[in-house]
Amino acid sequence: MKRKVNITEVVLRDANQSQIATRMPRSDFADILETMDEAGYYSMEVWGGATFDSCLRYLDEDPWDRLRFIRSKVKKTKLQMLLRGQNILGYKHYSDETVRAFVRKSVENGIDIIRIFDALNDPANMATAIDECLKAGGHAQGAICYTISPIHTFESYVELGKKLEEMGCNSICIKDMAGIISPQIAYDLVKALKKELKVPVYLHSHTTTGLAQMALLKAIEAGADGVDTAISIFSGGTSHPSTESLVYTLNEMDYDTGVDLGVCKKINDHFKPVQARFLKEGGLNPSVLTTKIDALTYQVPGGMLSNLISQLTAVGKLDKLDEVLLETPKVREDMGYPPLVTPMSQMVGTQAVTNVLTGERYKLISNEVKAYCRGEYGHAPAPISEELMKKALGDEKPIEGRYDDTIEPEIPGAKEYLGNLAESEEDVLSYVAFPQQAEKYLRERMEKKALKVSYRIQEVEE
Ligand code: CO
Repeated sequence: MKRKVNITEVVLRDANQSQIATRMPRSDFADILETMDEAGYYSMEVWGGATFDSCLRYLDEDPWDRLRFIRSKVKKTKLQMLLRGQNILGYKHYSDETVRAFVRKSVENGIDIIRIFDALNDPANMATAIDECLKAGGHAQGAICYTISPIHTFESYVELGKKLEEMGCNSICIKDMAGIISPQIAYDLVKALKKELKVPVYLHSHTTTGLAQMALLKAIEAGADGVDTAISIFSGGTSHPSTESLVYTLNEMDYDTGVDLGVCKKINDHFKPVQARFLKEGGLNPSVLTTKIDALTYQVPGGMLSNLISQLTAVGKLDKLDEVLLETPKVREDMGYPPLVTPMSQMVGTQAVTNVLTGERYKLISNEVKAYCRGEYGHAPAPISEELMKKALGDEKPIEGRYDDTIEPEIPGAKEYLGNLAESEEDVLSYVAFPQQAEKYLRERMEKKALKVSYRIQEVEE
């Protein structure tokens, strides 16, 4: 019998986020959801990550309503979201109460699987979300952020995998956000994790550097239980390997994905004009579609490199790029080798630029890096250098114990502030996660409703 390999279709979340900055409105996918439910995917990643912020900020959509709508059309296939652990969907740590409420409401509104990660791979930052997900009846998938550094060894990843399994995670995902996992490493890492873990192991990678198609196949050969892919028209470049191509490949081998290529064709045909429109209107920059090996050359993710270039360009110092690229790994080492994922990639990059431009290391230190040194982001993967600690904190001592325990619950204050603007607990959580965007959305929603009422009064009067 052929071995089952689970396919997670990511067009509505990660492909949407990686290629078109999460700007796909509901109207672009509403009519294809029922067909997608027939494709035979193990799951569909549809929510979390940047979708929540983007719905409120750019699309005039209630993110919770989007989720409920998808759930109403996708009845069989599991729905999946991405959550940044204690940061939920934002960039700072929230109180445990907020994390729990957010996770519980996500499951209540239709999410089956929550992929939970932390930028520092600190299990303490994932514990509350995992615990609440399990309590709410969801599938908690613990993610390991893949990065390359002297301290990120196979052993360290396996140890983290075991820890996440012990914490109750139903599956583990290797999350290669920068698309830098090579086919051989993917093979060896999956083998190592499969040997030590009982729960299923998944691989998530991006095609940015052109390695992911090969890495996914090698991971499957090593025993991976599932992988993430995007429907072909939204695949490749900064996105993911194409669903149809991988299914086609696996069909010829000893694997069964359960995915129907005939249905995939219908889905792809649906998204073709959507992609064409984004391309035509500039929402999809063709440069994200090509293979870029910079991340392999410089060991910094593609998005981080373009940030460094734009920061230097803004001050007319692009000639300092080589120096900054030499300084970046040094800052990362001083900071204890954080994986270069949001928000760490920005913190490391900006500090490297500052060190080079001021001509003196750590003459200026950002508030974020100071907070990091204080322990507000959790544990650094390796000790922070003494020089940086001293320059960042002076005589101040780093936080003892868990910073998150000191955060005041955000929900009561938000509820009081919003008053009748909030019609549900979901509204309050939107505000807690993205105050400005949510308040604007909620005010406009109220105004629209008031307008409707006044129209009706006019209709009656005439
Ligand atoms: Co991703």
